[in-house]
Amino acid sequence: MNNTFAKDVIEGLSAQHKHLSSKYFYDDNGSRIFQEIMNMPEYYLTDAEFEILSLQSKQIIEALEFSTPFNIVELGAGDGLKTFKLLEYLVNHNIDFNYVPIDISQEAIDILTKRLKDRLPSLKVKPKVGDYFEILKQNKKSDYPSLLLFLGSNIGNYVPKKAKELLQLFNDNMKVGDKLLIGFDIKKNPIVIHNAYYDKQGITKRFNLNLLLRINRELEADFKIDDFDFYCHYNPDTGEVKSYLVSLRQQTVEFKALQTTIDFDFNELIWTELSKKYALSEIESLAKQTGFSNSKHFLDCKHYFTDSLWEKLA
Ligand code: AVJ
Repeated sequence: MNNTFAKDVIEGLSAQHKHLSSKYFYDDNGSRIFQEIMNMPEYYLTDAEFEILSLQSKQIIEALEFSTPFNIVELGAGDGLKTFKLLEYLVNHNIDFNYVPIDISQEAIDILTKRLKDRLPSLKVKPKVGDYFEILKQNKKSDYPSLLLFLGSNIGNYVPKKAKELLQLFNDNMKVGDKLLIGFDIKKNPIVIHNAYYDKQGITKRFNLNLLLRINRELEADFKIDDFDFYCHYNPDTGEVKSYLVSLRQQTVEFKALQTTIDFDFNELIWTELSKKYALSEIESLAKQTGFSNSKHFLDCKHYFTDSLWEKLA
């Protein structure tokens, strides 16, 4: 099998505990459903981070202590709506910098670039499409200091071991003194977290089921969407929200493109996503373990979310 998506799907669904990776949620449909999630009142993460960047851009930029010009490199820029607040602050204060948004989706980057050119004409945008690390490697050679942005609690999708590997890789591709602004969802009243993922309208359920539709389309499979349900669970001890699809009957799914079938038991689960919540102390220890120091936290007024600023150690 040459195609990674096909390989990952078959591997995940052949495991003893079936799983699929949440990184595959984001096809065009999935990205649209994720926009709907971000607009739900229960999904506090987006609002909280928007508040942080709307009200504390000045404090964040001052904490950088960078000489100008500098680079702002955003990993997984997406629609860039929250980042706009930070960029707007810099442009309005005539601070000299380059904005380098990186995304795997050419479409997302095109839309973002166009919007920024319209709304902040004097902004220097150097969009990049492709693999984070290739682009970070090039950026390491820049004469200017860099601020990396990894916002939106995307780190929450990584199991702790993978999160450490990713952050260590960021660190390896930074210069001493470069900084990372990284969004973490903070542990809070478990009911608030539960409601953000188990929404009454079933948008998050649709987001998860869309992965089966994607598999149907791209791998010529015949998942019957009505024969699967969505379940998720927040464990306040570990901070983990785990999301699953549930097979509502014993069934066999055919993958025509791959000439294979997979059996599902009655009530068998497919684990689809981890959305990990952190305590501030865990964030600080993660920073230390991956070569960063000096963490400063920028929280929203409810203390639901933090954008934490880390500095690469000498
Ligand atoms: C984009 C990974 C931050 O885990 O909260 C939203 C994705 N999943 N609702 C998250 C998501 C279900 C989201 N992240």
